[in-house]
Amino acid sequence: MPDCGALHLRPLSRPDVPTVKPLILFIDDESDILDGFRRMLRPHAAGWRIEFINSPLDAWEFLTSHPVDAVVSDVSMPEMTGLQLLERIRSCPEMNDIPVTILTGLADVDLKQRVLDLGATDLLNKPVHAAELLARLKSMLRLKSMQDELKRKNHDLEAAVRHRTTQLHQSRLQILWRLGKAADFRDEDTGEHIVRVACYSMAIAETLGLPRDVVERLFLVAPLHDVGKIGIPDSILLKPGRLTDEERRVMQTHCEIGARILEEPSIMEVCSHSPPRGVDEDPTDPLVRAARDIAAAHHERWDGDGYPNRLRADEIPLAARIVSVADVYDALTSERPYKAALSPERSLEIVASGRGTQFDPDVIDAFLAIQPRVHAIRESVTNDVHRIMSSMTLYRRPELLNLPANGSRSPRPAEVLEPCRAEPSWLRTLDGEPPVPMFAAE
Ligand SMILES: [Fe+2]
Repeated sequence: MPDCGALHLRPLSRPDVPTVKPLILFIDDESDILDGFRRMLRPHAAGWRIEFINSPLDAWEFLTSHPVDAVVSDVSMPEMTGLQLLERIRSCPEMNDIPVTILTGLADVDLKQRVLDLGATDLLNKPVHAAELLARLKSMLRLKSMQDELKRKNHDLEAAVRHRTTQLHQSRLQILWRLGKAADFRDEDTGEHIVRVACYSMAIAETLGLPRDVVERLFLVAPLHDVGKIGIPDSILLKPGRLTDEERRVMQTHCEIGARILEEPSIMEVCSHSPPRGVDEDPTDPLVRAARDIAAAHHERWDGDGYPNRLRADEIPLAARIVSVADVYDALTSERPYKAALSPERSLEIVASGRGTQFDPDVIDAFLAIQPRVHAIRESVTNDVHRIMSSMTLYRRPELLNLPANGSRSPRPAEVLEPCRAEPSWLRTLDGEPPVPMFAAE
């Protein structure tokens, strides 16, 4: 395999510079032959740049450092034959589309076949006539120009697809978060609860050692845990006093309502006979599936005494077990119409007392282990609505969320989120690169 590592230093093809004169390389160990080519081409080559090299090794060196558009090479040469040079060119991804014409003798039929088998673009019989040489050169340069144009178009198309993919993912995130805020605003003025729950949940998931994509997915969908509250009447949701048993039963249906919102009917079912153009829903979308799991099961208990389905232990999706702890802790530390806020210390005692009964013991252990981060998150998310709207800038503070500032695969949000501002800039989580793996569907 030829060493064409130097090619990575600069593009050899010039899809973005179509106006540069094409560069043609002639290779022959006999200087007289090269002089003959030089004389032939002198009257015709005003629009070309032509290099004449009499050493195949030097020619290879030239190829690895210049954007050559066409090669004309002899076969029999010391150090490296024309066939070996052709093999090298065809083996090198950065230059394997360079048209190569090989000079051969008229009678050498086997050689001609081998040359073509190795990927030569054309053959040129010796002795070479000027008119034939010019015709072959023009043909090779036309081919190279078309290849470069194709590369340009592919490059533009890929960039457009990347841009469109980024837009789609950003739209998806915007909708997810705004749906969560819509539910949260119903019983809370600011919507900060969902922000803290998302941050606590992500911190717990990281401490549990969950994969990065799972952690980030949890961060995105945790705010939807109470989306089912959209379906609860105001008279119950906003009631300042204690709920009656019947009211509590209605309130508890927010889990099932949330699951239904996130579960069915899907847009493809609704539009089964005439799906919107461009809609190609993935029924196993892990983001939607995680959101549904959390909405449905965040009030289940480890001991099976929760609702709505009395799931127990591992029957409860892990994401829901994590959000459950974050949700209860934040509810305890928050003021609500029907209760005052408890201190963080007292809230933590209450949550910890549910270890193994209400909550997954491992999740509680993880939560207890990250109290400095929990404290920092709680302090950072204030009642200032503008700051809350931008509070995902917490993502920009690795010391709080333990995100790698310059990791091997630092998440996009940590790198590109805009500074805190009234505009919910935290939603601008993607740069121009493909949104992988953070938001990619599995
Ligand atoms: Fe809930």
